[in-house]
Amino acid sequence: MIRYVTAAVMLRLFSAGPLMRGMYRRLGNVVGARQRLGQGLPGSYVERALRFKRLCEKHEAIGNGMRLLEIGTGWVHWDATFLRLFYDVQATLFDVWDNRQLEAFKRYFGQLEAHLEGEIELDATTARRVRELLRAIAAVSTFDELYRLLGFRYVVQPDGSLQRFEDGAFDLIFSFNVLEHVQADILPQFTRDMARLLRPGGYAIHQIDLGDHLAYYDPIVSPKNYLRYSDTAWRRRYENEVQYFNRVQRPEWLHLFQSAGLVLLEEQRVSADIGAIAVDRKYAHLDRQDLECTALTVVLKKAGSSCSGGHGLPTVPLAGQETGQQR
Ligand SMILES: C[S@@+](CC[C@H](N)C(=O)[O-])C[C@H]1O[C@@H](n2cnc3c(N)ncnc32)[C@H](O)[C@@H]1O
Repeated sequence: MIRYVTAAVMLRLFSAGPLMRGMYRRLGNVVGARQRLGQGLPGSYVERALRFKRLCEKHEAIGNGMRLLEIGTGWVHWDATFLRLFYDVQATLFDVWDNRQLEAFKRYFGQLEAHLEGEIELDATTARRVRELLRAIAAVSTFDELYRLLGFRYVVQPDGSLQRFEDGAFDLIFSFNVLEHVQADILPQFTRDMARLLRPGGYAIHQIDLGDHLAYYDPIVSPKNYLRYSDTAWRRRYENEVQYFNRVQRPEWLHLFQSAGLVLLEEQRVSADIGAIAVDRKYAHLDRQDLECTALTVVLKKAGSSCSGGHGLPTVPLAGQETGQQR
């Protein structure tokens, strides 16, 4: 528990005002970039991207010409770029701050081809397409060049609001390990906005990390240690702004999505032994399965059937398209 508490103290210190938060982010970018460059492409990223692609294809949620929104795109635009290798899609990459790392991006996609061999069967045309795009990605020297190559745009919205986007602007909205970082009190509006941005019949796919993020600093602590604390105790001792996570549990997520008008098509859960922790009253209504749920992936659909794009096979890249960075 010492490392858990120390991590909480440090993160709360870094949350004390705009100056400290700025310092945390600058430091995080430098340290994070070094780590990613040193470690290279994690196998978990490849496994996740392949699972994501399979889910999209199974539900016919992806096709050429579609408009994608990746929420919390992060350092390397991983999931949108991965899909773009196979489909001619236009992606909007959304985040609340600019934490992009070009070198890490290029390292990850530079190592992807070797990872893909043996993991996925590609016909000759698709294999050539993927190879050519990976070569083109390796040659870019700025993110703006990359966005022109792929037909992407980058949007930073510090308050996380999705209100700038028009109704029905996207065919597929997705996120990986992001929704747990959205402030709990704005979640009803956030999920309603997400539904509004989808065209009728559009899809949303989200992977939500329900684990205690402070426990990542302390492997001897329960992966859902936060269940022990009331809101007051959590806020007083552990909650911080720089690595905020909302402690929202599986049934509440499902309720939020349903209330926003999204229909659940598929759900995948990861569970862990949470040990003999005394669960706070706040979580007393949850059954064991929900308490032990550490990650949740949902495939959701907005009612209706208006269609944009197609579900055809990959064709040529959208190279040279006029898109770029927005803030
Ligand atoms: C754990 S990282 C995941 C990044 C990326 N999805 C990945 O898996 O590589 C969480 C990301 O969500 C972003 N984020 C946090 N709160 C957000 C919000 N309210 N809206 C959109 N993005 C947010 C962070 O800036 C960060 O880039």
